[in-house]
Amino acid sequence: MTLEGIKTGFAITGSFCTFDIVLKELKNLCEAGADVYPILSYNTARTDTRFIKCDDLKAIVEELAGRPAIGTIVDAEPFGPKKILDLLIVAPCTGNTLAKIASGVTDTPVTMAVKGQLRNERPVLIAVSTNDGLSANAKNLGLLLNTKNVFFVPFRQDNYTKKSNSLVAEMSQIIPAAVSALEYRQLQPVLLAGYCT
Ligand SMILES: Cc1cc2nc3c(=O)[nH]c(=O)nc-3n(C[C@H](O)[C@H](O)[C@H](O)COP(=O)(O)O)c2cc1C
Repeated sequence: MTLEGIKTGFAITGSFCTFDIVLKELKNLCEAGADVYPILSYNTARTDTRFIKCDDLKAIVEELAGRPAIGTIVDAEPFGPKKILDLLIVAPCTGNTLAKIASGVTDTPVTMAVKGQLRNERPVLIAVSTNDGLSANAKNLGLLLNTKNVFFVPFRQDNYTKKSNSLVAEMSQIIPAAVSALEYRQLQPVLLAGYCT
């Protein structure tokens, strides 16, 4: 399967330190021919950090995707009834958004898009990036690993000596994980060898 013409939601949440690598993968996705619908969480749409200014982020994703970024619950809601997306990718997915998805909380454009996609029994691919993946959010990760139509970009402990509960997806595997998710398969191994930096 190729990604040519595949209608792909690309939802970005506030793991700001991963934006650099995630935006490279978004570019690769667009170059692979995916028809991308960018979605920004409220926090990514309004927060300037040392990593990126929010206006620059919006400009980059809109330029890559060739369409306006979705930034409200109202604009994300049609993904459900109109069955627009073949695949929804959440990359990066914060601990905050992971917890909301696991708990059925729908109060951002990203969680609204996820709700709509799962209502349609279509795949959601999550690229987790959170310091509490093996602590406060471990239960949410476990719940979503066992949730129908939810798949993960393979992840690892990114610094097991200094922040032993931190998990980060291997963002370079977004495209192969997306191809697998479109076939309702989890790319394996989902758990990669950890490292310390
Ligand atoms: C500079 C900066 C970096 C952050 N990095 C992360 C991160 O890597 N993972 C994470 O789960 N939260 C991170 N956060 C916290 C989230 O941005 C925060 O929980 C926010 O409420 C997430 O909202 P969202 O999930 O709707 O985007 C970071 C915050 C800041 C200011």
